[in-house]
Amino acid sequence: MDYFIRELTPPEPASARDGEAWRLLEGFRDIVNSGYAATYGEGRLLETSQRILAGWTMPGPVTSRLFLAFPSGDGRDAGEHPVAAAKLMVSPRDSPTHAYPHVVVDAPARRRGIGTFVAAHLEELARADGRTSLQAWVEHPTPGGERVAAPTGHGSVSAADPAARFLWKTGWELGQIERISELRLPVSAESLLAHMEAAAARAGDDYRVLTWEGESDPAHLDDLARLNGDMSVDAPAGELEVDEEHWDAERVAQLERRALASGATFLNAAVLHLPSGRLVAQSMLQLDLDDTTRPAQQDNTLVTSTHRGRRLGMLVKAANLEQLADRYPECTGVFTWNAEENAHMLRVNEALGFTALAPEGGWQKRLS
Ligand SMILES: CC(C)(COP(=O)(O)OP(=O)(O)OC[C@H]1O[C@@H](n2cnc3c(N)ncnc32)[C@H](O)[C@@H]1OP(=O)(O)O)[C@@H](O)C(=O)NCCC(=O)NCCS
Repeated sequence: MDYFIRELTPPEPASARDGEAWRLLEGFRDIVNSGYAATYGEGRLLETSQRILAGWTMPGPVTSRLFLAFPSGDGRDAGEHPVAAAKLMVSPRDSPTHAYPHVVVDAPARRRGIGTFVAAHLEELARADGRTSLQAWVEHPTPGGERVAAPTGHGSVSAADPAARFLWKTGWELGQIERISELRLPVSAESLLAHMEAAAARAGDDYRVLTWEGESDPAHLDDLARLNGDMSVDAPAGELEVDEEHWDAERVAQLERRALASGATFLNAAVLHLPSGRLVAQSMLQLDLDDTTRPAQQDNTLVTSTHRGRRLGMLVKAANLEQLADRYPECTGVFTWNAEENAHMLRVNEALGFTALAPEGGWQKRLS
């Protein structure tokens, strides 16, 4: 059978009349969500149309193009039932040489060459746009069996994992493994408090924890921008070529506006260094407001390099989990993604009760 690819255009948010564009967007969402289920559990991590639309259409450093693949043919059903969803992202200011493709083939349609067909289309577009390298983060839920180690020496993927086999066959290299972990909630309030008190005692009197939900106080935006910029280069990247991200106060505010427009809320915990008046640590959680029982997603956690070794990482994470339990006690979990070589962050997470779900591979393909 032959297939064709159709690029999506954003539906008008306020108009239910833009029926065709909404239908395509929902088809895209459903294929992406069925792909998540294998790793995160049925319905635990979900894209919503609102979130896809906000990420796609609102101003921000990353721009995305969305595609669906359909079986060709002139039957009545032609163009009705998509078999694959794909996205091509670029971040021109931060990473002028990279493009970030992602392909999900609907499970019943796999192993028919559709993934290869769609990936080749994205690669062609990236080349035509002058990109010289592709990068992708891909979940590898296949357990056990023969393992292939990451070049960092930390973490591995199953040699039989379909996505890993697909990527090896199409010329990609594995650069790093992140561990996807989940904390099932609720956790005991006493144990969280004990972690916070122990960390605060170790940190000493120079530090104070602040927590808030939603948009940040404009007075904090410069510090948050600095922490985000540090995060882009301080987090271990293995063999992946990673460029420093350019952050300023407006970019932080823009990120927050995008998150809120996508139907999410976010919870921040930060540590204020009293002698300097600067924020020196931050941890952020995002939560979809359409169903707050679904697990929250951990965003950045970072301690400024000159303030490390004082348990501030544990302090901000535990404080934010406490804030989550106070504001959204119905939330059933937190997902987080950490480099396997990031021993300090993993130790904090394990102490808080996070357990590993699956590896996620950071892959790169150089375009010659
Ligand atoms: C990875 C994925 C996109 C592959 O799509 P697909 O349409 O099944 O892939 P293709 O049919 O084009 O397969 C191409 C090659 O990949 C390898 N491959 C794909 N699935 C495989 C499997 N289940 N077992 C072993 N090898 C597999 C094979 O080498 C295959 O070639 P062959 O059939 O001639 O042996 C699909 O499994 C998927 O959507 N997974 C979930 C989302 C994901 O991980 N996406 C990552 C890509 S960015």
